[in-house]
Amino acid sequence: MGRVKRVFQQIDPPARLLMGPGPINADPRVLRAMSAQLVGQYDPAMTAYMDETQALYREVFQTANEQTVLVDGTSRAGIEAALVSLIEPGDRVLVPVFGRFGHLLREIAERCGAEVHVIEVPWGQVFPLETITAAIERVKPKLLAVVHGDTSTTVAQPLEGLGEVCAQHGVLFYTDVTASISGNAFDTDALGLDAVTAGLQKCLGGPSGSAPATFSARAVEAIRSRASVEAGIRTEGDVTSSRRIASNYFDLAMIFDYWGPQRLNHHTEATTMLYGARECARLVVEEGLDQTVARHALHGSAMLAGVQGLGLEVFGDLEHKMNNVVAVVIPDGVDGDAVRGAMLTDFGIEIGTSFGPLHGKVWRIGTMGYNARRDTVLTTLSALEAVLRRAGAPVTTGGGVGAAYDVYADADRAAASSPVETRADAGTIAPEAASTDGTAGGAA
Ligand SMILES: Cc1ncc(COP(=O)(O)O)c(C=O)c1O
Repeated sequence: MGRVKRVFQQIDPPARLLMGPGPINADPRVLRAMSAQLVGQYDPAMTAYMDETQALYREVFQTANEQTVLVDGTSRAGIEAALVSLIEPGDRVLVPVFGRFGHLLREIAERCGAEVHVIEVPWGQVFPLETITAAIERVKPKLLAVVHGDTSTTVAQPLEGLGEVCAQHGVLFYTDVTASISGNAFDTDALGLDAVTAGLQKCLGGPSGSAPATFSARAVEAIRSRASVEAGIRTEGDVTSSRRIASNYFDLAMIFDYWGPQRLNHHTEATTMLYGARECARLVVEEGLDQTVARHALHGSAMLAGVQGLGLEVFGDLEHKMNNVVAVVIPDGVDGDAVRGAMLTDFGIEIGTSFGPLHGKVWRIGTMGYNARRDTVLTTLSALEAVLRRAGAPVTTGGGVGAAYDVYADADRAAASSPVETRADAGTIAPEAASTDGTAGGAA
């Protein structure tokens, strides 16, 4: 029997409000940028976009690092590139694990052949600085690899002070900021970080598929000492290290030369993702990083107050909760998946499930990127109240929206008494980073 040729329908996804831990609805400006036509990989327009993208991400990461690039692939592509390029088999690596993505760092480091040492705290908690310091002194690792904000538990590990400890002990310091970047205060250079990787799909308001990353001079030196240009593009004078990086695709030494003046012909750029990543960073730089973080703090506080106002319990160490996501304890006797299902089918709103020890115990609700807005918070809270009431949960009538409104009223009062610059007149944007398309932008 021959194959039946099927054409299917054009892509026409249902309207959804994505209020989980990411991905979230992409900012329309990012989607518009991604619909632009391709140009050749070494077209001057393209190489100019690449240079601009590097400059924009230096702002987002708060760094002067020359090696600030995009790794093609989702966030874990950035993690793999950083770890496989920094770790040589047998290297000692210390991984403090406080959630799912710490386990991911451990797993990738193990696959790189590292001798991995793990310290753990229960999910929902973070490490005191002294605990990580003591582990560094005990293990003497080449690399400390720690997640900043772990979406699985909603908490962020404070990184202050670790850079100094790492520098004292000659340890390279890496963090994964996929979940936290631009929604929470973060400064690569002030923290003394050597390697940082991210993704677009959370507070940056884009789709997954590109991993912005930045590397200090020390990290670059370690990576370049293993440089080995692949045979088909090698020219006289190119090095071939005996300690070659185990992955070709994630070989940062070649990726740096692809982004640098050499324009090494390493991979075919994921041009559409670069357009998207560039627009994500442009949104942040245009709004102002501090204002982007403040917007996440405001809407995250409103969502937190709202779920508490409904009478729901919140999971995790609230002092270290990320601005952009909250874990809500599923009330006794309530079927968590049925509630998520009703939110989706009745209101078109997606909220998140959870993993590992939290599976079936909490929902995760995000307020990030394009969806860190007043209307999305109020809509989600009113829908949640209605669905929970139908599920028989004892919720406080009007308590969610009311508490969130109170947070907004306080913020409005504070803003009225000390006017802040608006996005349109922020005035600090270099001309090359300023909007040229005249659109209003998606952020509230
Ligand atoms: C902190 C953190 N790291 C890594 C990842 C993995 O990202 P991706 O699925 O884009 O590869 C995620 C995804 O949610 C994350 O939250």
